[in-house]
This record gives sequence, C-alpha cells and structure tokens, in this order.
Amino acid sequence: MSEWDSAAESVDFNLEILAEDFVTTVSQDAKVLDFGCGYGRIANQLHHSGYRFLIGVDCSKEMINRGLIENSHLDLRHILGSILPFSDNEFDSIVTCAVFTCIPNQDLRKQILIELRRVLKPNGVLYLAEFCSDESHRFTSGAGVPMWHSQLSELKGILDGFNIEQSRVVKSLTMSGHASHVSHIFARKTI
Ligand SMILES: C[S@@+](CC[C@H](N)C(=O)[O-])C[C@H]1O[C@@H](n2cnc3c(N)ncnc32)[C@H](O)[C@@H]1O
Repeated sequence: MSEWDSAAESVDFNLEILAEDFVTTVSQDAKVLDFGCGYGRIANQLHHSGYRFLIGVDCSKEMINRGLIENSHLDLRHILGSILPFSDNEFDSIVTCAVFTCIPNQDLRKQILIELRRVLKPNGVLYLAEFCSDESHRFTSGAGVPMWHSQLSELKGILDGFNIEQSRVVKSLTMSGHASHVSHIFARKTI
C-alpha cells in the first residue's frame, strides 16, 4: 500500500509544468512516460497538447484507480517495486511533476533516476518539475506525506548521466497555499 492511497480521492495537485517549453523540446510523436503520474493530471494535459504515445505509472493503486475513472482515455498503470516494466531505451521522454518532491531521501532518488535513465533513449529528454528551497526544507504535507523541498543543487545532484540543457526556478504555491519555488530542469541522457 502506498502512503498516497488515502489521499487519492480528495487531493488536487496544483504544480504547473512548463508546457510550452516541453512542446518545443519534445516532438508530439514521442513516446512519453509520466512517472509518478498520480491520477493522470499531467498525462491528460500532454494528451490535450497532442501527445498520443503516453504512459503514466504510479506506485499508488488508488491514484491510478481514480485516474482511470476520470481519464479513461489514458494508459495509466499501477507499478510495484523499483524495476520499471519497460525495456531499455523505450521512451523518448520522461516527465516527473512533484514526484522527487515526495521522496525525501537522496540515495533513493538516485536509485530511481538510474532506473528512469535505463528506460530512456540515448539523447532522450528528462523533464523534472519539482519544488525546491534554498533551505532544503523537509516537512509533512497536509495530506500526511513526507515532503522534501531540496536545494536546486541537490536536485541536480541526482542527474548522473545527463546533460542539463535548461534549468529555471520560478515562484509557485504549494498545495496548501504556501509560497515556494519550483525548479524546472530539462536534461538529456548522455550516450
Ligand atoms: C505529488 S504527487 C504528483 C502527481 C502528478 N505527477 C501530478 O503532478 O499531478 C506525487 C506522486 O508520485 C507518486 N510516487 C512517489 N514515489 C513514487 C515511485 N517511487 N514510483 C512511482 N510513483 C511514485 C505518488 O504515488 C504520487 O501519486
């Protein structure tokens, strides 16, 4: 059972991706993985931006169940464990939106990144949209889930085997309305 299961019915995620930047960086015929897709909010946005080869995965069964009800046109899959059920080099692009934000352990983040890198094609684009903070702030969210608004350098520190092509930090509100910052990183898998 995932710690996100109990929040799945009621939570409404709010972090916006840089959709225009994504569209100019990743072609619409790309095969895209939305990792930590929740109930499919971002996958649905990308679908409406013209992406058709989209798969969303999440470790919370209840998030996926909600997603399949609200967004039955999407391919959303519940995953278990640390190995993704995909081949090496399968995706042209991977998106994470507020996923590493709720993984408050740098070693675990790095392990997940290694697995994401495996399923991403050489030169494929990883787009991370993640909350960050100069103070490297750890706390428990209103949904009862541990959060880590890490420093930008800590986020960049998980990107072994990637070239960072674009990195922007913008102001944003958290789900509970607190002022915070979000780091938008586009990184390409090195060959
Ligand atoms: C804050 S939510 C964001 C959901 C979605 N990306 C969005 O922005 O609407 C984070 C999601 O990441 C998922 N998650 C966290 N760690 C994960 C992991 N190791 N594998 C798959 N999903 C994970 C959680 O279950 C949760 O649904």
